[in-house]
Amino acid sequence: MGWLSMATHPISVLAGSEHDALNLDRGWAIREDAFRFLVNDLTRLGARTVVEFGSGVSSIRLALALPNVHIVCIESDRQFRDRILALRSQFLGHGHSLAIELRELAWQRYASGIYLSYRFDSLPGEIDAAIIDGPPAWTRRGREACLYSVMKPLRVAGRVYLDDYRRRAERRIVKNWHLAYPGSFAMSVQNVGHTVCVLEKLKEGAGPQFAFPTFVDNVAQNTVLAFRWVFRGFRWKRRTSLT
Ligand SMILES: C[S@@+](CC[C@H](N)C(=O)[O-])C[C@H]1O[C@@H](n2cnc3c(N)ncnc32)[C@H](O)[C@@H]1O
Repeated sequence: MGWLSMATHPISVLAGSEHDALNLDRGWAIREDAFRFLVNDLTRLGARTVVEFGSGVSSIRLALALPNVHIVCIESDRQFRDRILALRSQFLGHGHSLAIELRELAWQRYASGIYLSYRFDSLPGEIDAAIIDGPPAWTRRGREACLYSVMKPLRVAGRVYLDDYRRRAERRIVKNWHLAYPGSFAMSVQNVGHTVCVLEKLKEGAGPQFAFPTFVDNVAQNTVLAFRWVFRGFRWKRRTSLT
């Protein structure tokens, strides 16, 4: 069954290159089966406000599939944001509520460490679900900070979907979340796309709390990040001095 056959409205009447432009089985996108799972789950949840960290074709497809849902996408890359805005004007009409907010990566502090993630700014007052599919993996623990920024407005029984759970880094991020908010989540893992981890918020609570294992992980990850930057800068300098 191709991606066109799924139950998401105007897409089924688009043709050729337009289908290709919205295909989620390409590049860094979330994958069609994972998207189908998301749409079904969000529909069952009765979601009205959804925040997606890391915009892309998925943002357009979500808006098409869930026209009554207010979708806020957070994006750090200006050029990428502009591409998604172009797709928005191409494919979405006035009936859809899709905001794509540019928030550059910035260092920020939470209980157990410092994180390079989307610059903190206001979010909708009540959020039913958050999809965490950014920032990119090179930020090391950038996705960990997304939950910390969204936990307060996320309603009880609301959900967090973390993509790429098949990677070791994402599994570690979920461990850190459990340590930051002990007993606050029910968790399941969906074997779709790059594997999606689903957390359901069980209760309101303080936090995030400090956790020593998270602190150690944070120092280690930021050290790797710093070394990579220094090494890249060194290589760039060598290349420019040779030319
Ligand atoms: C995994 S992508 C998000 C994809 C989106 N949720 C989807 O499924 O269409 C995470 C971030 O990576 C960046 N990105 C996406 N595609 C990229 C590419 N081909 N090269 C470099 N960065 C990319 C963008 O900044 C994006 O927000």
